[in-house]
Amino acid sequence: MFSLPKTATIIEVGPRDGLQNEKNEVPTDAKLRFIAALQDAGVREMEVTSFVSPKWVPQMGDAASVMENVKREGRQFVLAPNARGIENAKTSGADSIAVFVGVTDSFNKRNINRTTAESMEGLAPQIRQLKEDGLFVRACISTAFHCPFEGPVDPDQTLALCRQFADLGVDELSVADTIGMADPAESYRLFSRLKEELPDVLLTAHFHDTRKMALANILASLQAGIDRFDTSAGGLGGCPFAPGATGNVATEDVVYMLERMGIGTGISVERICRAVDEVTAFVSRPITSGMYTLHQNHSQQD
Ligand code: HMG
Ligand code: MG
Repeated sequence: MFSLPKTATIIEVGPRDGLQNEKNEVPTDAKLRFIAALQDAGVREMEVTSFVSPKWVPQMGDAASVMENVKREGRQFVLAPNARGIENAKTSGADSIAVFVGVTDSFNKRNINRTTAESMEGLAPQIRQLKEDGLFVRACISTAFHCPFEGPVDPDQTLALCRQFADLGVDELSVADTIGMADPAESYRLFSRLKEELPDVLLTAHFHDTRKMALANILASLQAGIDRFDTSAGGLGGCPFAPGATGNVATEDVVYMLERMGIGTGISVERICRAVDEVTAFVSRPITSGMYTLHQNHSQQD
């Protein structure tokens, strides 16, 4: 039978990955209500915003206001692609920084306007400094399985990039199936290898649900020993520079599955659905997760 952990950690990415791809403008107040409601639901680790160029990602242009007004509770990550973003993140009082790099040059160039090696060259001294200053550093590894421009990615290439970050002393690697193309067998293989070869770094799985394989991928990752998952309330999300990437796996569906399997998350499914209610009026696409659909049906009956 399965070997399963007793607990798992959910890293909520809805306020960042979920909203960065929205066509509609989401007011800062609505973002703050969303974040507060997610905290009330029991979320203790969350990507709240990103300090990126507002010309590239206008939806994150209010990062400083979000950070100024957010209730500091648990671990709150802000994303930063470069020295400027890291500086702005520090000024905002962030103590947990998430850097992000793609395994493939084609994706990284479209996302950050640099090759992977150029990004690493810029980030290496920054990461060393962040660690010297005692901050928590998470590295998000995009196109770890498949690239929208280069196709299947060699696991050796993904492992090599993860190792570079581990050698720089990052605390966590969030390994991403950016365009939702991984299957459970390759998820199991890659995460088993990462677990074995990089035992000293926290490993997190970040699945987009484009082809509805994310829950199966999570189960496969659990089998490989992973117990940290990036998820997005309402299944919102996607990277604006990865064609074909739809939302992340929905927090409410993952929490439901894990809790049913006896794996504690500390998070309330119903309250996550109520948090989603805070932003539905502003998001342009329907929310189709299983648990949110049930929540809406119940609300209509009340
Ligand atoms: P660039 O044009 O090469 O930047 O873009 P630059 O260094 O040449 O600077 C150009 C201008 O941008 C300058 O301003 C800079 O000051 C400014 P100007 O002189 O023209 O007025 N600038 C900045 N402004 C604010 N914040 C900054 C910043 N840096 C420079 N940090 C850059 C390079 C990295 C800035 C740009 O490509 C960018 O912002 N990219 C972000 C893309 C992004 O946010 N993607 C989504 C997040 S990643 C993701 O979703 C994947 C993930 O979920 C995992 C997965 O699923 O795969 C994490
Ligand atoms: Mg993502």
